[in-house]
Amino acid sequence: MEKKNLDWGNLGFSYHVTDKRYVSMFQNGAWDDGALISDDKIVMSEDAGVLHYSQSVFEGLKAYETEDGHIVCFRPDLNASRMADSARRLEMPAFPEDRFVKAVIETVKANAAWVPPYGSGATLYVRPLMFGISPVIGVAPAEDYMFRIFTTPVGPYFKGGQKPIVVRISDFDRAAPRGTGHIKAGLNYAMSLHAIVDAHKKGFAENIYLDPATRTKIEETGGANILFVDRDGKLVIPTSDSILPSITRRSLHYVAEHYLGMTVVEREVTLQEVDDGNFVECGLCGTAAVISPIGKIYDHGKEILLESGMEDIGPVMKKLYDTLTGIQMGRIEAPEGWIQKIM
Ligand code: PLP
Ligand code: COI
Repeated sequence: MEKKNLDWGNLGFSYHVTDKRYVSMFQNGAWDDGALISDDKIVMSEDAGVLHYSQSVFEGLKAYETEDGHIVCFRPDLNASRMADSARRLEMPAFPEDRFVKAVIETVKANAAWVPPYGSGATLYVRPLMFGISPVIGVAPAEDYMFRIFTTPVGPYFKGGQKPIVVRISDFDRAAPRGTGHIKAGLNYAMSLHAIVDAHKKGFAENIYLDPATRTKIEETGGANILFVDRDGKLVIPTSDSILPSITRRSLHYVAEHYLGMTVVEREVTLQEVDDGNFVECGLCGTAAVISPIGKIYDHGKEILLESGMEDIGPVMKKLYDTLTGIQMGRIEAPEGWIQKIM
């Protein structure tokens, strides 16, 4: 199979139309058989549920070319179950989890020529999505849904890859207490758009959101969970009911304990602790972000410089990054069931 002729090493995190996408429709109370199609456009009613009441959920995972030339993806079963959880919270029918994984495999196979070569630093981003497509005028769930998976080759989410970024504590919230922060629904991202545009204008790469009820605890950023390393070398992972349960973060918890012999603590983390300089390293983690080190956090005029600094990723984040990407690219043996071979 001949690869597409792209400048793989210089891809940004952006959308390229690739050859095939998978589509299945939920109509008359059941999912159809689904199929790969070529058309990247969608035709729908002006009254489709998604357009008015934001009934949309999505996922993100990546396909990798491994050192020995296979194509694999990472824990797609967890994306399948998270998408089913997201759908149920928005009164949408869950797409069957086993079919989700099969559809990811089929879609990546059909776009194999777009999987960036091993070592290029790029990957094939896989975006499953689902939305209400039938007309809805009173506030109610739609009756019909489209489930779709497309792929796009991507480079690093933050320019500069592993170079530390500067983030700020946001005055906006992305989620509400007892709301939808814990699911991957488009509406959470709509909530964050003004905040991210404003952050970028002011020179920050991302926003750190606080817990929306008390605004005293660290939650996550608009597109990634947050990890800290404390002065004892422990990995500290903030907990909250309104953050997305990141698959990368759950995997890193395991990697830190079982591959790196670290102590991992999942607990609430206050902004005060961060301001007090209790952490030596901090990073964002997610499918798109992988691990992106944070060099500095701005909290309303106060500048918190992490000890790992602005030049390089700190030693713990580096070990986590190398181990996780080593597992994903087939250089390090993966825990049972983490790597789905595609071809
Ligand atoms: N938090 C938010 C808000 C996200 O959008 C993402 C991206 O998916 C993550 C965290 C990271 O989750 P995962 O590691 O499953 O990609
Ligand atoms: C991902 O990491 O897959 C995400 O969905 C983050 C996104 C906001 C680009």
